[in-house]
Amino acid sequence: MKILRNVVVAAGVTMAMSLSAAAADYVLKFSHVVSPNTPKGKAAVFFEKRLEELSKGRIDVQVYPNSQLYKDSAVLKALKLNSVQMACPSFSKFGKIVPQLALFDLPFLFKDIDHLHRVQDSAVGQKLKDMVTAKGFVALDFWDNAFKQMTDSKRPLIKPEDCKGLKFRIMSSKVLEAQFKAVGAIPQVMPFSEVYSALQQGVIDGQENTNSNIYTKKFYEVQKYMSVTNHGYLGYLVVMSKKFWNSLPDDLKANVKQAMKEATAKERQYAIELDKSQFAKIKEYADKTGKLQITVLTPEQIAVWKKKMETIYPEFYDPKLIGKDLIEAAKNTK
Ligand code: LMR
Repeated sequence: MKILRNVVVAAGVTMAMSLSAAAADYVLKFSHVVSPNTPKGKAAVFFEKRLEELSKGRIDVQVYPNSQLYKDSAVLKALKLNSVQMACPSFSKFGKIVPQLALFDLPFLFKDIDHLHRVQDSAVGQKLKDMVTAKGFVALDFWDNAFKQMTDSKRPLIKPEDCKGLKFRIMSSKVLEAQFKAVGAIPQVMPFSEVYSALQQGVIDGQENTNSNIYTKKFYEVQKYMSVTNHGYLGYLVVMSKKFWNSLPDDLKANVKQAMKEATAKERQYAIELDKSQFAKIKEYADKTGKLQITVLTPEQIAVWKKKMETIYPEFYDPKLIGKDLIEAAKNTK
């Protein structure tokens, strides 16, 4: 009886889903790689609800988290083909299209999140969006995650030399590659969806990510050490398929813009809240189990990392990579 009831309920759900999709004029698939309980995951769901509401169901938004549809940069190819309509890759993943977005990967470039937002809202941010538009995408908004921390399985990372010889997973970014080489580590590009098992199996020794990604993907359970370094920033650009955008009538385009504006404001709040609350959860695990040693670096210790890592900036002065003008403009944004 119970099984039958479940079947009936499941059939009902499927019917309701296909009815809503059938009733809609447009289906917008939004693909991303992180857990739903992250700033990006939550904001994607907020955007879904809001756009469906504003469009009165004419756009059916379907969010696919956890690399269910596409991994990392593969989503950009899919967007080009309109196989998926929306995505929110981290800046590093635009490497083959607009390498200049790696500006945001530069270690210790931003004093704090407000400085970063000012850069994104300035001519620098606009220039980078225009570069993405010129490549045939619709560049919507910048979304936040947070500053990154390091985790590893070998030793506490207190000074840059502690990274020597360790294999670190990185996103596909020339800046991140240079950053880890500068501290004597061995960087290894790997899709986000493969990091947990690579850490667990010891294929890599460590990785850098935000509290939110470390917590929701349980990296902390397969690492012995975590260093709170805040050395670099992780954020995103929300992009839409140009073909999909062009297919929308003006009123629905306005709805997309409005839903996006509200989702971006929410996303910034989620990013701040989750960075704090999810770090607290990692710390609770560390305190309770004794299996993870967390080191919060002092400002003096961080200054040593900064000095070392900043040496990579000139490698990116070539405008084909990032450009000295963009780096200087970001640094000097007041
Ligand atoms: C990563 O690959 O570590 C991140 O870009 C994942 C994400 O989208 O936050």
